[in-house]
Amino acid sequence: MSHVLDRTAQTDVPILDVLAERWSTRVFDAETPIDEEALRAALEAARWSPSASNTQPWRFVLARRGTEAHEKIVASLIGFNQGWAPAAGALLVVLAETVDDEGNARPWATYDAGQAAAFFTVEAHARGLATHTMGGFSPDDLRTAFSIDERFTPVTVIAVGAFGDLDAADEAVRARESAPRERRPLAESLLLDA
Ligand SMILES: Cc1cc2nc3c(=O)[nH]c(=O)nc-3n(C[C@H](O)[C@H](O)[C@H](O)COP(=O)(O)O)c2cc1C
Repeated sequence: MSHVLDRTAQTDVPILDVLAERWSTRVFDAETPIDEEALRAALEAARWSPSASNTQPWRFVLARRGTEAHEKIVASLIGFNQGWAPAAGALLVVLAETVDDEGNARPWATYDAGQAAAFFTVEAHARGLATHTMGGFSPDDLRTAFSIDERFTPVTVIAVGAFGDLDAADEAVRARESAPRERRPLAESLLLDA
């Protein structure tokens, strides 16, 4: 029987179910095509995230498994990520418009793109899709592969798709998937709580 892990965070106070339940798997189902309706909703959630002066400086390059674009994104990933991420139904490059079309810096562009990415992952999870964000890729490779303008900075690549069968994964991956999910105590992040 297929075995999908429940990795719900052990939070100190209750939070929204979707936030506690989202986690970053490395076991995707390599056969099932991406749920297009769920993917569309996740992109819509990203579209509706807030941004500085509503500049919406995020851009996306979306490639479904089996396409040439998908192969190009896979080729840009660092070795470890190349091991598990290609199985995901789609790869989403999140870019930030760090310089506007008049040459002015957009100081919050990366922040805003990150927030759009967060909205994407939360909506995706709520709709049954797994996501895993990656910083381990070559922005230069992506620039070349997709002729990306200098004004846009590739920030992350998100693997998104159906959860895979943990029992079918190899030992090393299974061990990583079962390791406890941890966070430092909130008090260590609250530099001041006056
Ligand atoms: C910006 C960013 C970059 C990340 N880069 C990688 C990566 O290159 N490879 C990887 O396996 N995981 C990567 N992760 C996943 C994190 O390791 C993961 O989110 C973290 O350990 C917390 O686990 P959780 O998402 O399951 O709560 C990245 C996450 C973020 C947000």
